[in-house]
Amino acid sequence: MPAISRSAPGKLILCGEHAVVYGQPAIALPVMQICSKTMVSAKPLTSRGTVRIIAPKLGIDQDLSTLPATSPIKRSLELIMDHFHLDHLPACEIRVSSNIPIGSGLGSSASSSVSLVRAVAEFLGHRLSEPEINQLAYEMERIYHGTPSGIDNTVVTFAKPVYFVREKPIEFLDIPKSFELIIADTGIHASTAQAVAGVKEQYLKSPNKFGALFEKIGNLSIQTRQHLLAGQIAEMGPLLTQNHHYLKQMGVSCPQLDKLVSAALKSGAYGAKLSGGGLGGNMLALVDHSSAQTVEESLVNAGATSVIHSRVHSSAEITE
Ligand code: MEV
Repeated sequence: MPAISRSAPGKLILCGEHAVVYGQPAIALPVMQICSKTMVSAKPLTSRGTVRIIAPKLGIDQDLSTLPATSPIKRSLELIMDHFHLDHLPACEIRVSSNIPIGSGLGSSASSSVSLVRAVAEFLGHRLSEPEINQLAYEMERIYHGTPSGIDNTVVTFAKPVYFVREKPIEFLDIPKSFELIIADTGIHASTAQAVAGVKEQYLKSPNKFGALFEKIGNLSIQTRQHLLAGQIAEMGPLLTQNHHYLKQMGVSCPQLDKLVSAALKSGAYGAKLSGGGLGGNMLALVDHSSAQTVEESLVNAGATSVIHSRVHSSAEITE
């Protein structure tokens, strides 16, 4: 049996992170330049049920049975086995690789989860629907993040721009005009679970203040969606920058993220903000094609450890 290999992209939150956990809308985009991949190969000659897990980025190269019960990858595989009413997997090797930096706001856990579900399900002879993959990946995200909104697994599963509101039908965005983003990494690893837990703690202490901030961020997402659907790219800029200021007030920015945001704005970006859980990780700058290179250089000069120049394709460009 040939090895089965499935991949999934990274993601970026254009606006609305954190507020989305509290029922406000947010917009997320797939990032196709980065991805994770899971390869499953049958090992029929090894003893029954021996499953080797190789995940170099997590420092794992061992049998599944020897992983601790708390290991996210072990728990994720248990979710898949439960879904298919199995008490063990056939002997195989599962190799998970990724070029998405961990703890950087670019969806590394959601992407690995989606590629894992896809590859293992197919290895077991099942073709899951996209909503089923999304649901399983959401349950895996709960292992990694505690109380995720579900936006990360959704954008990664469907690999399409989404306007997402918790427990509402997913709206896929038909983008009429392409635009460009520069995504820059602070190089600081940050845990989304920790950022989400920190916001929750603050919210419980000051529900009025945080409730108002969530609502303001939700309004920014509503307006950003309108501009996005109207092809008014530059008009989204100030909304994204305002979103960054609200996130800063919520305590999820950090000096390096603020420095990158201000470097992007000074060098001509339409708008800039942290993206994802914050406390480190990546920020994004919305740019016109003519200023993309200048913004990129100024982000590197301001200390970005890596920069991705990403084009968000219009729906017409995608179907070409
Ligand atoms: C992380 O990409 C986005 C957060 O809003 C968490 C979530 O929605 O699950 C910070």
